[in-house]
Amino acid sequence: MKTGAKEPSPRYRTNEPLISPKVMEYLGQVISERYLSPGNWVRKFEKAWAKECGVHHAVAASSGTAALHLALLATGVGKGDEVIVPAMTCPDTLNAVTFAGAIPVIVDIEPVRFGLDPSRLREEITPNTKAVIPVHLYGAAVDPEIFSICHERDLLVIEDAAEAHGAELGGQPVGSLGTAGCFSFRGDKMLGVGTGGMITTNDEQLAGRVNHLIGLAGAGGFDRYHSLELSYSYEMSNVHAAVGVAQIEMLAPTIAAKQRIAGFYDRLLSSDLMDKPALVDGHVFWRYVVLLKRGNPRRVHSLLAEQGIETMPPFVPAYRLPHYAGQQSPKPFPVADDVYERLLSLPISPYLERSQVEEIVTLFHAAVVVEN
Ligand SMILES: Cc1ncc(COP(=O)(O)O)c(C=O)c1O
Repeated sequence: MKTGAKEPSPRYRTNEPLISPKVMEYLGQVISERYLSPGNWVRKFEKAWAKECGVHHAVAASSGTAALHLALLATGVGKGDEVIVPAMTCPDTLNAVTFAGAIPVIVDIEPVRFGLDPSRLREEITPNTKAVIPVHLYGAAVDPEIFSICHERDLLVIEDAAEAHGAELGGQPVGSLGTAGCFSFRGDKMLGVGTGGMITTNDEQLAGRVNHLIGLAGAGGFDRYHSLELSYSYEMSNVHAAVGVAQIEMLAPTIAAKQRIAGFYDRLLSSDLMDKPALVDGHVFWRYVVLLKRGNPRRVHSLLAEQGIETMPPFVPAYRLPHYAGQQSPKPFPVADDVYERLLSLPISPYLERSQVEEIVTLFHAAVVVEN
């Protein structure tokens, strides 16, 4: 979670990484090799991540935002182009579009997966639309119809998979479904290395363009500092990459643990007090998200924080952010608005035991009822 807030250290966090024993070993190797800059470990991480996503190419970046920015630049999205984004996402999705000089066009979400609403997407495509960024929010892949629409209309698709490592759509991993996929490896993600990102693609030219822009856009070798165009210095370090190489083996157990804990929540949480997540195939439960039927999420969040339980607030519908006001479709945003008023994400650290989930549920129910 991105925090500015300084709340006391919680007993139960929204997420934590399962740490592979190989992390210390590989970090030790990086240190002993005395080469911490982008290098051999980055290449290893890229190769392993490409395999994990079933794509031909992966390029590691310094953050998920950098990955999105580079993917947009490398696909030729730029000044004046419209890029359709969902109304509910991390502001980074929109920021990357703005950094690329393009215009984010904010479109409402659907209430099942909280991704772009395909019927609204159809209505919002204009001759200026160049790309669509479907965001696989909270660990659930978006509605597959989005990919069919983009294919029909010949639009670029940059998947924002920052929150959905390992999620699948029809058996295909996210990050392999569009023109390019973008991941974040921020510490609280499904696979965290601290900070970092990755661009995945089957398009060799696109990967080559990302690799060119990611450093100094130089000619290589002795001419590496002969920068041929504006470039971004968005590479990942060997230190972060070594953690990533070690941590890949923890993704499957992380997903299994989180799916198991989601099952506990499904059984224990009261349907009278909240709507629980819909059944979505391939959901990896980065977050376990409920929509309250009673009570105010902001107050419930504070009550639970006092008891050491961290909950994650909803993303603010993007059209309400001051710097993006006016960039939305003129149509209303009933789903994003409703979700925003009612959403809270419960702790779903893969370390949670059933008895701890029971304790969280008891305190959560009490907080919702007291708050009412
Ligand atoms: C949906 C989404 N997109 C993009 C990002 C940006 O990733 P990063 O924080 O690594 O820049 C994040 C997370 O932080 C995210 O949740």
